[in-house]
Amino acid sequence: MRLTKFVDSLPIPPILKPSRECCGLSYYTVRMNEFQQKLHRDLPPTTLWGYEGLYPGPSIVTWRDQIVRVKWENHLPVFRHLLPVDTTLHSSGPGIPQVRTVVHLHGGHVHTDSDGYPEAWFTNNYEIVSPLFKNRVYEYTNHQRASTLWYHDHAIGITRLNVYAGLAGFYIIHDKEEQCLNLPGGKYDIPFIIQDKTFLEDGTLYYPDRPANPSPALPRPCIVPGFFGDTILVNGKIWPYLEVEPRKYRFRFLNGSNSRFYNIRPEAEGKGSPPAWLQIGTDGGLLEKPVELNQLMLAPAERADVIINFSQFPGQKIRLTNIQPPVEEDTTGQILEFRVKDYLSEPDTSTVPSFLSPFYPLSECDADLERNMFFKISTDSYGRPHFLLNGTMWSEPVTEKPLLGSTEIWNIINAGAGIHPVHIHLIQFQILNRQPFNAGLYNTTGKLEFTGPAVLPDPNEMGWKDTVRAAPGFVTKIIMRFDHYTGRYVWHCHILEHEDYDMMRPIEIMKRPCLKSRHRYN
Ligand code: C2O
Ligand code: CU
Ligand code: CU
Repeated sequence: MRLTKFVDSLPIPPILKPSRECCGLSYYTVRMNEFQQKLHRDLPPTTLWGYEGLYPGPSIVTWRDQIVRVKWENHLPVFRHLLPVDTTLHSSGPGIPQVRTVVHLHGGHVHTDSDGYPEAWFTNNYEIVSPLFKNRVYEYTNHQRASTLWYHDHAIGITRLNVYAGLAGFYIIHDKEEQCLNLPGGKYDIPFIIQDKTFLEDGTLYYPDRPANPSPALPRPCIVPGFFGDTILVNGKIWPYLEVEPRKYRFRFLNGSNSRFYNIRPEAEGKGSPPAWLQIGTDGGLLEKPVELNQLMLAPAERADVIINFSQFPGQKIRLTNIQPPVEEDTTGQILEFRVKDYLSEPDTSTVPSFLSPFYPLSECDADLERNMFFKISTDSYGRPHFLLNGTMWSEPVTEKPLLGSTEIWNIINAGAGIHPVHIHLIQFQILNRQPFNAGLYNTTGKLEFTGPAVLPDPNEMGWKDTVRAAPGFVTKIIMRFDHYTGRYVWHCHILEHEDYDMMRPIEIMKRPCLKSRHRYN
């Protein structure tokens, strides 16, 4: 269905108030529930799931080293999911409640019990909890850089459905270093969660219950290998507009879509040249220096902290457009419209320094261990694609057990056809390079033969990342250090349809053997 674009103004998710605050500790209660919300002027209200009755959920805004505790409560319908649940996926079969939730803080450096392990789910009022469920209250210590994180549902086998239903929100960490830079702040610092969805005429959220041209052998409902909606929403409004002043703004972009990638750029009305824009931060916080952007590529879960300067555009309209296929110029090619006022409410005293924050690159010599990781698409017994990491399924025993305090290099080998955004919990990593290799040879013999020199990451990827695009025909080399926490976490493709079946694997950070037994003198 076709909806008129740019008729609703952009909502900004409200900042969640703690229910208690004392001694540097903030305590929140967050309820997940079902509700109706208007997503567009001409669309009847849509039934959604969200946090605190909101889609997207309210933003949690905090400071570095401030301790945040959240009691995540499930008040969702007990028996009936809002969307079609495929019960043939891992840990989704008979005896497993359809409506299950567990919340993950994406990009957070957190204790294993608060990470939102996909099999640590719970149902309404904790009526049923999975065997791996531990605690009702999650703790986020925020011992990490100022950054734009997000929380979202991560329940095993239905993450794509829960997030699509609306279970996602921002989690923003500030720190002194960032505050001293005098970047545009307050009402000039605005988060954008971009998502694609499809609706029926009556406002119902649509999600397919089987792939296009299904074979009769498929179960119903059946997972789809990817989902692309025909409508773009920002902060829960369909094609919104935003009135801005002719000055600098900071926008925190988050691609919160299931499968869709975006290649974004601002376009001025008419043929005029667009405003300059600079990227100042990545998934893990500030870059060392601002990077001038031409267009901005964002895979699912990637974030970009961006400055756009409208000072030269009073009275004009600027569009944010998307050219990443699959795309239709008039619909999914459009994201948001800025309407630049012709006056300032106060002088713009913000600055964008040419040096933002020191970045200490890790080098290959720092690594204790190097692992080769590969993607494999096999076919399941229904004849549908089954996406695997290292050829293993979610349910198989843990194979990656990094030692606490160790530095590892992961070579992510993509000998397939699509880009997969790889996300690792617990840590922020650095991208070393991407190197082309002979995928045909690799697929037939398993031999890794490089066909060209390694390519450095893009300038706007030279910071801390928790999600990286692993392009086909390339080995994507990343480096990371496992600090502070041991225990069970996960890594996965952040295309949610892949993550749910089966492109996700556990990792377990192991304690080092005791020093006494390592050095024995006789
Ligand atoms: Cu954004 Cu494992 O998640
Ligand atoms: Cu995550
Ligand atoms: Cu994938």
